[in-house]
Amino acid sequence: MNQNKRKILVTSALPYANGPIHIGHLVEYIQTDIWVRFQRLRGNDCLYVCADDAHGTPIMLRAEKEYITPEALIARTLEEHKRDFADFFVGFDNFYSTHSDENREICTYIYEQLKAGGHISQKTIEQFYDPVKEMFLPDRFIRGECPYCHTTDQYGDQCESCNRTYTPTDLVNPVSAISGSTPVKKESVHFFFNLPDFEPMLKEWTRNNLQKEIANKLDEWFTAGLQPWDISRDKPYFGFEIPDEPGKYFYVWLDAPIGYFASLKNLCQREGLDYNDFVKQDSEIEMYHFIGKDIMYFHTLFWPAMLEGSGLRKPNNVFVHGFLTVNGQKMSKSRGTFINARTYLDYLGPEYLRYYFAAKLGPYVDDIDLNFEDFIFRINSDLVGKVVNIASRCAGFINKRFEGRLSSQLADTSLYETIGGSDCAEKIANLYESREYSKAMREIMQLADEVNQYIDSHKPWVISKQEGKDQELQDICTMGLNCFRLLVIYLKPVLPELATKSELFLNSGPLNWEDLSRPLLDHKINKFKPLITRVEQEKVDAMIEASKENLQATESLDNASGHLKDNPLADEISIDDFSKVDLRIAKIINAEQVEGADKLLQLTLDIGGETRNVFAGIKSAYSPEELVGKLTVMVANLAPRKMRFGISEGMVLAAGGDGKIYLLSPDDGAEAGMRIK
Ligand code: MSP
Ligand code: ZN
Repeated sequence: MNQNKRKILVTSALPYANGPIHIGHLVEYIQTDIWVRFQRLRGNDCLYVCADDAHGTPIMLRAEKEYITPEALIARTLEEHKRDFADFFVGFDNFYSTHSDENREICTYIYEQLKAGGHISQKTIEQFYDPVKEMFLPDRFIRGECPYCHTTDQYGDQCESCNRTYTPTDLVNPVSAISGSTPVKKESVHFFFNLPDFEPMLKEWTRNNLQKEIANKLDEWFTAGLQPWDISRDKPYFGFEIPDEPGKYFYVWLDAPIGYFASLKNLCQREGLDYNDFVKQDSEIEMYHFIGKDIMYFHTLFWPAMLEGSGLRKPNNVFVHGFLTVNGQKMSKSRGTFINARTYLDYLGPEYLRYYFAAKLGPYVDDIDLNFEDFIFRINSDLVGKVVNIASRCAGFINKRFEGRLSSQLADTSLYETIGGSDCAEKIANLYESREYSKAMREIMQLADEVNQYIDSHKPWVISKQEGKDQELQDICTMGLNCFRLLVIYLKPVLPELATKSELFLNSGPLNWEDLSRPLLDHKINKFKPLITRVEQEKVDAMIEASKENLQATESLDNASGHLKDNPLADEISIDDFSKVDLRIAKIINAEQVEGADKLLQLTLDIGGETRNVFAGIKSAYSPEELVGKLTVMVANLAPRKMRFGISEGMVLAAGGDGKIYLLSPDDGAEAGMRIK
């Protein structure tokens, strides 16, 4: 295998640095990581790089909201993202940032090359400007109707419904999402990358490299006609200033894919590798990008064209996956299915999700569904009930009766060949290679069934009680454990931790694909410890509950804008409807931090002789000390709600907008318990 050793560079899309990693993102990072681990297991040289996507207006505004610098925000997020990925065993060789010297340098290089090639032009354009916030409005902060398919409430740069990109001024009925004002048009000079210059190359590259499904999508785009791409933004902007163009910045989507190379370059410097080998036009190193379907345009048109125009190599392929749905629906904060990586890890093991995604993922752009009932069932039945069960059925006998020593021969070479022979191994390898993980998992579980059948029919637990059958017993269990080892090799890309634990138990050293043909014989194993535990329904429920609380507590306040336009009036109600709500003046007699909650404070409220325990999502705006003694207004007849931290018996009233929270309080003279009408 080694003479055909492939050299491969793999990337996953760079997550934005303004929010936490969630289980939707993880589809991609887990899909990529499995592929990379598989390549390494086969003996190929495979580097995996990624970075935070740290530029752009959302990050600038987010930092503003938190009263910190964008640099501080992206530094904090970088650490959080790295930790989340590491804890899911996503094994990047480098996880860097687009806000780096390397990236600035490569961006400048590519820009200069494109300019020298005549691919950059300037044009004065009219752009939307927020007269309240006094800045040009970034695409994502203008909402309106898609000019092509007329879906409403779309972003200014790309439609989520038809995936087409356009410029914000094309939107029908635009509104500023920052201030809620109607944007005005204002002129400024912009820089454009002439995408149409590259149409013939793109058509050919598409046909030769991309999957059919993706190429078809591109054909639609070619038919619609390629347009020059606006690559500059005016200040204020968090990004790289364009060389010799003060006040003009590279649009974040220009420097983001270049971030793949920046991360690579940083890695090469650290490891003493030749960066140029990877990026030169005739590079022999394969390069693959894993991305979600929402960012195809950037990776299959802009990016290859930028590379071509600057004399650099293009990717060999772009692997596109679909979106994650949970229990059949879009991830939702209120349903508790918008689950952050960290919240998941607080309740469940990372390998459950890795296996589940593997069991669902194919090479296509279809969305994949995480159904929790199915999740629990599959983990418990496949991993616990089938795979690990083999080891636990055989290990005890070997340990107790044979001092941990395996027999010196295989009892059933034909079964071993069925499971570990090259026919089967190549079939599984091909499935991994072509990203047909769900088929690979099905294949592996069928093999596990065969091994369990072998054990069932040879009944070691019966033989162990019979005189003179020691050799037979040892042989059967040796056979079982060797088959278990084969399955562990196959599953190692998906379950690296299970593999490590199994390698310890089998005392085998790190397993790789070539070990398939080298059974462990006359070999001492270690004591068996449980390798994986069952998934419990209660843990899943608690995780969903925690996701509701983390996000729901102040969701309505956080995301609200104070403006009617963004936050229209609710449906009309009658006076009878209103009188069902019992609003009372409440005195805050105690206020405390809630351990483990990001947004909640626990309040004890006196409503005139009765006290109520209420969890309120106001931690970002108030300290407990300043609240004690204050009067406020509460909904006193709200049905109690069970939360992760206890029962909440009502709700305090607060106004919210643009990230700020204002607790309501009555005028002087009001007393606890008074009803509000
Ligand atoms: N910053 C850009 C990518 C720049 S790459 C040069 C971006 N970031 S993202 O954080 O929004 O998404 C990162 C990756 O995660 C994308 O490939 C995206 O498709 C994927 N996913 C984000 N949410 C997802 C789901 N709910 N389901 C599956 N994948 C999802 O886009
Ligand atoms: Zn559309």
